[in-house]
Amino acid sequence: MTLKITWFGHSGFSLEIENTHVLIDPFLSGNPLATISPDQVRANYILLTHAHGDHLGDTVAIAKRTGATVVGTFEIATWLQKQGLQAVHAQNTGGGYHHPFGHVKFVKADHSSSFPDGSYGGQACGIIITHKGKRLYFAGDTALFSDMRLIGDMGIEVAFLPIGDNYTMGIEDSVDATRLIRPHSVFPIHYNTFPVIQQDVSLWARRIHTETDAKAIVIDPGSHFVVE
Ligand code: NI
Ligand code: MN
Repeated sequence: MTLKITWFGHSGFSLEIENTHVLIDPFLSGNPLATISPDQVRANYILLTHAHGDHLGDTVAIAKRTGATVVGTFEIATWLQKQGLQAVHAQNTGGGYHHPFGHVKFVKADHSSSFPDGSYGGQACGIIITHKGKRLYFAGDTALFSDMRLIGDMGIEVAFLPIGDNYTMGIEDSVDATRLIRPHSVFPIHYNTFPVIQQDVSLWARRIHTETDAKAIVIDPGSHFVVE
């Protein structure tokens, strides 16, 4: 399997899985780190961890232009239908489903969720994507929680963890989370987008390498890496 993962900055990604383009939390137009615009990005599926504006992002515009299917909690799917999107797929915490590109399981995140218009967004989630035996864990916005150990028991290839602090885990807790999850590699998200979540990512990477068994993946927004 070859899986190409491009980072948009913040918590946004594009996954290329055998010609299918899967976006995660496509926050582009309001994202000072983004290097691609919502008019250019390719999408067959859009997966959302929660409804906050820095995750929902440009979902409605991208889905209307591309016809991409949006996968999120029941509350997110219902809200998107009211915005005129028809291709939505509702899941919820603990639930997995075999989509054509791979298996998607929603797991808990310790965070809140509401839409930019203030309406309730359901539970904030993490997302685990399994494709040909490789598991990616997108933690979304979350605090550290001890059930991350159970997620780790599934066998995680790459964990995408927030390190920005203030709204989510910071560096200290993300190192502890990495010890619980025991991934092969860990990728830092939700940092440097705004002054309040500025972090020294090289310090984080040093701590990951000295205090855990995981490999830290640090790339610039707009760059990609490959999971073989
Ligand atoms: Ni959030
Ligand atoms: Mn956020």
